[in-house]
Order: sequence, then C-alpha cells, then structure tokens
Amino acid sequence: MSKKYYLTTPIYYPSDNLHIGHTYCTVAADALKKFKKMQGYDVFFTTGSDEHGQKLMQKAHEYGMEPKEYIDHIVENIKALWAKMDIDYDSFIRSTDEQHEKNVQEIFQKLYDKGDIYKGQYEGYYCTPCESFWTESQLGENHTCPDCGRETHLSHEEAYFFRLSKYRDKLLKLYEDHPEFIQPESRKNEMVKNFLENGLEDLSVSRSSFDWGVKVPFDDKHVVYVWIDALSCYLTGLGYGYNNERFNEFWPADVHLVGKEIVRFHTIIWPAILMALDMPLPKQVFGHGWILFDDDKMSKSKGNVVYPEPIIELYGVDALKYFLLREFSFGSDGSFTKEKFMARLNSDLANDLGNLVSRTVSMIEKYKGGIIKKSSAKTEFDENLKNIAVSVKEKVDKAMETYQFSDALEEIWKLVRRANKYVDETQPWVLAKNSEDKEKLENVLYNLAESIRIISVLIYPFITNTSKEIRRQLGIKDQVKWEDARQFGLLDGEKVLKGDVIFPRLDIEKEIENLDKANKKLAEEREKDLNDWIKQAGKKLKKNEKEEKSTIVGLGKEEITLEDFEKLDLRVATIESVEDHPNADKLYILNLKLGQEKRTIVSGIKDYYKKDDLIGKQIIIVANLKPIKLRGVESKGMLLAAKDKNGNLSLASLMDKIEDGVSLG
Ligand code: MSP
Repeated sequence: MSKKYYLTTPIYYPSDNLHIGHTYCTVAADALKKFKKMQGYDVFFTTGSDEHGQKLMQKAHEYGMEPKEYIDHIVENIKALWAKMDIDYDSFIRSTDEQHEKNVQEIFQKLYDKGDIYKGQYEGYYCTPCESFWTESQLGENHTCPDCGRETHLSHEEAYFFRLSKYRDKLLKLYEDHPEFIQPESRKNEMVKNFLENGLEDLSVSRSSFDWGVKVPFDDKHVVYVWIDALSCYLTGLGYGYNNERFNEFWPADVHLVGKEIVRFHTIIWPAILMALDMPLPKQVFGHGWILFDDDKMSKSKGNVVYPEPIIELYGVDALKYFLLREFSFGSDGSFTKEKFMARLNSDLANDLGNLVSRTVSMIEKYKGGIIKKSSAKTEFDENLKNIAVSVKEKVDKAMETYQFSDALEEIWKLVRRANKYVDETQPWVLAKNSEDKEKLENVLYNLAESIRIISVLIYPFITNTSKEIRRQLGIKDQVKWEDARQFGLLDGEKVLKGDVIFPRLDIEKEIENLDKANKKLAEEREKDLNDWIKQAGKKLKKNEKEEKSTIVGLGKEEITLEDFEKLDLRVATIESVEDHPNADKLYILNLKLGQEKRTIVSGIKDYYKKDDLIGKQIIIVANLKPIKLRGVESKGMLLAAKDKNGNLSLASLMDKIEDGVSLG
C-alpha cells in the first residue's frame, strides 16, 4: 500500500476579488500534490472557504443580503477559478457545511468537557478585517492592528476562553523536539519571540455580539471564534466525523502551507487545540512569503490588484504557474511586476524551452521524416548532456523536500539550457549537409529528443499542460513516470507531431498594455456582475436606496388587482419601546404590540426620530412580510413611511387612536 500524504492550503475567505497573491499558495500546493503523487504517494489535498465571522456578515448586509446567499455566489466564483487553473484538490470544504458545523460543535464540547474551555469576560482590541483580538501591548501606533495596520476597537463581552496558556511549555517543547515543525526556521523564531517568550494568554474563543457563526453547543447566545472553526476544516476536509477510515489513514497532515501572517494561528492555536483533543499534530507548517506589488500587499483598496484570469487568458495557466513558482523563493516575499513576468516568459519559456522543443521537433521532421531513432554514433558532447539529464531528478527531489519550487525549476532549466547549447555545439544543420554524418545527425537528434522527454517528466508537477503538449509533440503515448527521468534512452521509433510554438515570444511593451487593459476590463466586469446579481436578487447596492425601498410604499408602479392588494396584511401596531441596534449605527429595534401579539421590527429610522418621539405611537406595518435578520436581529414585518426628495421622512400613522393589532383595508 502506498504511503499517505496529506497537504492543505488555507481555507480562504470568500472574496469576489481573488488576486494572483491568493493563487500563490494554491498553485504551490497543486504542484506539491502532483510531485508527491509522482513520487508514489497517495495524496489528499484539502482547500476550502472560511465563511463565518462578522466581516462577511457585514459585507452581505451591506448588499442587503443574508450572509449565506452572498457567500454561495462568491464561493462558486472561487471554485471556477480553481477549475480554470487546473487545481487538483480532493476536498473543498466550506465552513458552513452541515457536517463541518457539527464537527466544530463536537470539538468545542470536547474541549469544554475537558475543562480546557471556560466562561469569562473579554476585554480586548478587536480588528474586524482580521477577525483577531489583540492586547494593548500588541497593538501598533494609535491602536492599530499589528497585522494589517487598520484601526481596532475596544471590545468587552462575555466570552468562552480556551486555556491556551496551559500549552505554552508544551508548544515550546514541540518546537524544540521537532525543529522541522515550523518552516522556514525564521518563522519559528518569530513565534517564540513575539508570542511565547513572554507568556501566553488564554484565548477568547466565542463571540456574542453577532450570530453569523457556529453556535456554541451549550450556549446559543455565543458563536465559535472563526479561527477554531476555520482550522477545524482541515479535519472535516479529510473525513472527520463522516469518513473515519480515510481520516485515520491520512491524519496527521504532512504539511499545512500557509501565508506568513497566519503562521501564528497554525503553530500556536492549532497544535494547542489538537493537544487538548489528544490528537496527533501536523508534521509541518510552512509559512510562505507574500507577493508584493510595488512593495505593498496587493489589495482592492490600494488599487494594485493583478487578477489571474487575464493572465491565464492571454498567456495560459502554465505561464502564471511557472512564473509564480520560479520567480519567488517560497519562504520569502517577492515583488510582482508585469515587466518581470513578461521577461521571464520570454527568456525561460519562449527562448529556452519553447525554442528547444520547436527546433528539435522541426529538425526531426525535416531530416528524419519525423521518426526518433536510436543511433550508435557519438559526439564529444554527448556524455556531458546525458550526465546532466539523468542527474536532475535527484536535485529536484532534494529541492522539493523543503518546498523550494524555484530551485527545482532552476535545476530543470539547467538541462534546458544545456540541451540548447548542445544544438549549438553539434550544429545538426551542418551535419545534415554531409551524407557521412547521417548517423551522427541521428544520434544528435535522438539525444535532443531524449533530453526533452526527461524535461517533460520533470516539469509535469509544475506546468502539467506544457508537459503533456511536449509529450504529444514527441509522439509519446506512455504515462508520465517520475522514475523515467533517471534513464536516458527510452524513446524508440516514436513519430513526432509538430504543433504550435508552445510559448511565443512577447513584445513586452505591447503586452503590458494588453494585460493592463484586460485587467481593467475584468475589474469592471466583476463590479458589473456583482451589481447585476444584487439587482437580480431584488436588492439595491446602496443602503439609502435600500432604506427608501423598504420604507416607502412607492408611487407610479404597475396596477395591481384587489386580490393582489388583499395579500398584504396591513395592521396597526403600538410602539412599546425602542432600542439601539448593537451592530448598526442607523438602525432601531422597535418592540411592537399588535393586540395579544408582540413582535420586533428593525428599521433604519434612527436618523429621523428620537426614541421618545416614537414610544406609544401607533404606526402601520406590513405584518406578513417574510421575517429577515438585519445585522443579527430578526425583523418581523416592515413599517410604512414616506420620504421626500429633501430627505424628510415621516412614518405612516392613524388620525385617531384605535385598538392595536386590527387590520387595515
Ligand atoms: N481564512 C483565513 C485562513 C484560515 S486557514 C484555517 C485567511 N484567508 S485569506 O483568504 O485571507 O488568505 C488566504 C491565503 O492567501 C493566506 O495564506 C494568505 O497569506 C494568502 N495571501 C493573500 N494575499 C497574498 C499575497 N499577496 N501573497 C501571497 N499570499 C497571500 O487568511
């Protein structure tokens, strides 16, 4: 039975804005999976989407939607991108999957039963975009988040705590006993120095100020902290709770590949939770660097986003994969520029590899009727070429032990360049002119075809489509096998099939313009798609418009029948009390009485009425409108109001007092 290998990427926040920085880890994981499979491992690869938390809830509400409705749409786009990029994952786990939510509750319960979770009071600085609490000493200047530099706010609330402090010494011991646990080494030093050296505080692991999350099983006022939820996806993805056989075969993970800013969660919180659950720990967490753009992190708000789709459409998915894996050293930050991208394509893919394949196949067609034939003749350059060709595999194996994709590709390109040099040294076009050199020519072309075959094996994990195309052009029918990269002389009588140039040379200036245009077009299309989709869902993007719509019975709409009108249950309600909405500045929560019935309506009238002006008033509501949650509070029905073009708003009411609960009509 083959050895198991479990690898993961982070569980991504659903975003309509995945840029090439986001694809970095997934591209690396995909290459690693293909590489390990070629080495003979049985590999399982989990990725997914991290769908809970305040930030996503707020974003969905901004669009006038419930979080799930919004996220469902975005997640489809993420999956489509991974499909476009041929990312070969085995499990895409959504943190809102029912099984996952069940797992999170079970894990939380286990930790609570064990005494590792207790109830307390939390006071801390919360960064909403990062979903992270910070202590005062960890904050940046002006109380900013040390990770993203944005403003944090002081937050107090009742919360459940995980006894993280209890695991400090065990974590230090883990790092000591397993120096390979955090890679690269420098990240381990950061963890020790920044988080463990001066003690470790218990971690708040529940929130009660919003409800978009997995409910704490024994206290449904609280939802589980998103990081506990997200990290547990690595278990659910594999089968925890539903496919125990697979889970037991593959767990613990061989490696979690993550961006450097989330190493902390993976090397402190995650192993501590697993220790508390008495589960085996992942063997390694690798914190890769960031891809920067003009020395800054790529983000929509900074306007420096480069999307993967236009690159893929213009130059192919392999061009993007090759660039990401070759240009940057996996553990370090690197800068993306379009110039570098184009230059790399021209030099490595068009000039080196493309040219080698194209001229070799052309010469075999021209001089040998397309047949790759062995020959006993020799040239003085053969041995050196063969020695290099069969030694690359071992070097790639070595580089990949430490995820040095760039070094692995550089080793392969040494062979590509050596083979090109061999063409120049042996000059087949000169040999072709002399009939005495017929055998020699055959030999040279054979050695070139063999070198290219070996290259096609070696590049398979990284740029799979290119590998397949090269093998097609060489007329190879066999499955690609890693071991075949160590042998020279396997081709025998194949017929080449010339195809298009695999990577054409680019006019850099022109292509930068093209890419800019395509990138801009895509950004506009995305914006439009999102707006269209929101409209289609019957919602309006702008909040003001939304409030107008929800509060005003419009004029000038199409005629309706009496039957249509009678579907509306309009009723008189008395406002008994008014509260501020805890999560929204402009919303009131109105507690209403309708005869025997009491109900709550959330409405955006806070800017127009003081609480005292409302209490005791009778208003008219649409009582049979489907209830919705607005920022976490259920709203049952809608009140009627009118708003004029100057922005004055007036609630619809009755001329005389009347019994509440009665119907209008
Ligand atoms: N949801 C969390 C992960 C939970 S894992 C249990 C998260 N999501 S994310 O969508 O914000 O980030 C996903 C990954 O993309 C992270 O590893 C992050 O480092 C990576 N990147 C985002 N921008 C990046 C670059 N510009 N460059 C390289 N990787 C970057 O964090």
